[in-house]
Amino acid sequence: MKELILQTHVTTCQLEELEPSLHELVEKAKAMTQNAYCPYSHFHVGAAALLADGQVVMGSNQENAAYPSGLCAERTTLFAANANNPNTPVTALAIACYTNGHFSEQAISPCGACRQVMLETEYRFGIPMKVILYGEKMCYIFESAADLLPLNFVAENLQGK
Ligand code: THU
Repeated sequence: MKELILQTHVTTCQLEELEPSLHELVEKAKAMTQNAYCPYSHFHVGAAALLADGQVVMGSNQENAAYPSGLCAERTTLFAANANNPNTPVTALAIACYTNGHFSEQAISPCGACRQVMLETEYRFGIPMKVILYGEKMCYIFESAADLLPLNFVAENLQGK
């Protein structure tokens, strides 16, 4: 037997330290928290995707009385971006959350299903997608969606590779 240690790579910073285009993307994600439809959790999540052609597609979480029918902000955003722009890579995704009257202090941590969808978006275009998780105290910047999902599952795994 051999133990393997899986490592990942993340940079932390304050919002003001982000390069202008990413700072702006986070501001859009923050603003989008106000459009969340979250009467059940009161957890407002906003996301903004920057596309390779400069477009920004935004989304928020959309809940449902039948709870599993709702969808997270990240997937709402990426599905909209990919559905409307099937040939345009997504180069960055910013995510923010607002609850109990303030933005979260810690960087929001996307759920597993959203990480998988981020990975597929990155994989289909073959271009790394930066992921910026906003927190009032600290932001996390991942250079690639794959860094959020070690031991991930992508199309080539379907071939048994
Ligand atoms: N949610 C997101 O939209 N993104 C995340 O990263 C975490 C959770 C949503 C789903 C649900 O509407 C609410 O937040 C509480 O889980």
